[in-house]
Amino acid sequence: EYHGTNIEGSENDFNKTTGKNETSDTLTNRQGHPVTDNQNVRTVGNRGPTTLENYDFLEKISHFDRERIPERVVHARGAGAHGYFEAYGTVGDEPISKYTRAKLFQEKGKKTPVFVRFSTVVHGGHSPETLRDPRGFAIKFYTEDGNWDLVGNNLKIFFIRDPLKFPDMVHSFKPDPVTNIQDGERMFDFLCQTPESAHMVTFLFSPWGIPANYRQMQGSGVHAYKWVNEEGKGYLVKYHFEPVQGIKNLTQKEADEIQGKNFNHATQDLYEAIEQGNYPEWEMYVQIISDGDHPELDYDPLDPTKLWYKDQFPWKKVGKLVLNKNPENYYAEVEQVAFGTGVLVDGLDFSDDKLLQGRTFSYSDTQRYRVGTNYLQLPINSPKKHVATNQRGGQMEYRVDRGEGQNPHVNYEPSLIGGLKEAPRAGKDHTPYVEGEVKRERIDRTNNFGQAGETYRRFNEWERNELITNLVNTLKPCRKEIQDKMIDIFTQCDPDYGRRVAEGLKGADASGTSDTGGPIGSTHTEDAVKQAEEM
Ligand code: HEM
Repeated sequence: EYHGTNIEGSENDFNKTTGKNETSDTLTNRQGHPVTDNQNVRTVGNRGPTTLENYDFLEKISHFDRERIPERVVHARGAGAHGYFEAYGTVGDEPISKYTRAKLFQEKGKKTPVFVRFSTVVHGGHSPETLRDPRGFAIKFYTEDGNWDLVGNNLKIFFIRDPLKFPDMVHSFKPDPVTNIQDGERMFDFLCQTPESAHMVTFLFSPWGIPANYRQMQGSGVHAYKWVNEEGKGYLVKYHFEPVQGIKNLTQKEADEIQGKNFNHATQDLYEAIEQGNYPEWEMYVQIISDGDHPELDYDPLDPTKLWYKDQFPWKKVGKLVLNKNPENYYAEVEQVAFGTGVLVDGLDFSDDKLLQGRTFSYSDTQRYRVGTNYLQLPINSPKKHVATNQRGGQMEYRVDRGEGQNPHVNYEPSLIGGLKEAPRAGKDHTPYVEGEVKRERIDRTNNFGQAGETYRRFNEWERNELITNLVNTLKPCRKEIQDKMIDIFTQCDPDYGRRVAEGLKGADASGTSDTGGPIGSTHTEDAVKQAEEM
């Protein structure tokens, strides 16, 4: 319910009353005044000038003047839907309580309401949905213990592992500050000096960089998070979502054709599927490894530029995600929804992934600016359970988060005169031990190229052809020093990868074995699924 509620959040009786010259469908202003003329401003005579005491007009136009809030600095273009998560009560064939005490997972068949927002990353609110870009896959679980947000992407890894680099990375991807045009040279200027991005670049310039729509793409939490069980023992986990609809990616040519006709195709596809009762579903999986630094691996398990390979760390089913209701209002729900990586519930925890920790500050910080101090009181963001805080005031306070029986004079804790009280602990705390020098230093096991080369080799041939063609087309207008550095990076990933990009840039046939630039056809879905299962 996003209308007709009073400050306590219940139906406002006054909404049902009407003045003597009104019925329930009479247009009013926000003061409840019936609007008798919505066509003519008040003027001196019918030729003007207009008068300044035009309250109705000034209210209407000044509200209109403020209809936009700042759009998200990244992931501005999105689509969302409501649905539910249904738990299987197990992780693979083990009871899930062995690994986590989070309540939403425990009971087979238990349903938790969710809101999901999908997005593209770089461009603005109405940019085409066919662009080569990661896709956001953010889920808000309204659990009985409060909200849990999983703010993930379709791809399972990321460009960088240090949050200090994020603003530079985004600046290089976004339009040039002078021309306002996106420029591949600025992007590769950054990337050629950011070797940890080689793996993500390999996915992004392959067909995996343009999912066909939001229903036929995977989702991933990307980072290692933690699960904590009743004894306080922690495990490292990664989350994945596999679309029951299958995976489908586009070649650049296919994307160009769609973009020429429809730049909202992914939003439209999602909206229409749900309207038709064709509810999209994803199976939710986790990978679990013991907490620790795992010296036996040639990468750091906390490094978000790395996959945990499926054959080594199997994907285990924990439940399914179903989207079955479109938003009633795009702005109130999809635009104002606020997800954050810090929003966890009991039984879930952070890992020491530095990127994850940097993100955790950024999200609520930007939302206090983008939506407002009291953004958590909006219906789309508010938990569907008891909320009682001592936070008062701030722009747009919508209600008082007062506990039942809380003395309204007491907005502090502790208090002997009717204030709120701390909750008992839900289980044993997870208390990891850390020690070390405080310093600025990258991690030891960077291994920037190993998995990128492996991904290149695991691609199907048509995916490799597309990758090389797309890279060559973007790198061609770049300065030679940038091209050379990128060729060096690709060569370190796999000599064949580097050779083909270099040959393409020299003007030779970039597609290697195929002279058409790669097959375009109906086999994509199957190929893509096959490849996904191997990763
Ligand atoms: C949105 C920051 C990395 C996924 C955002 C927003 C910010 C941000 C400021 C806008 C949020 C809003 O206005 O509500 C960062 C920083 C990162 C980072 C500082 C690294 C240090 C990532 C990574 C992922 C990701 C690694 C994927 C795992 C998303 C998604 C959204 C988003 C899905 C859109 C959420 C929505 O639909 O409202 N990010 N981000 N980000 N980010 Fe990140």
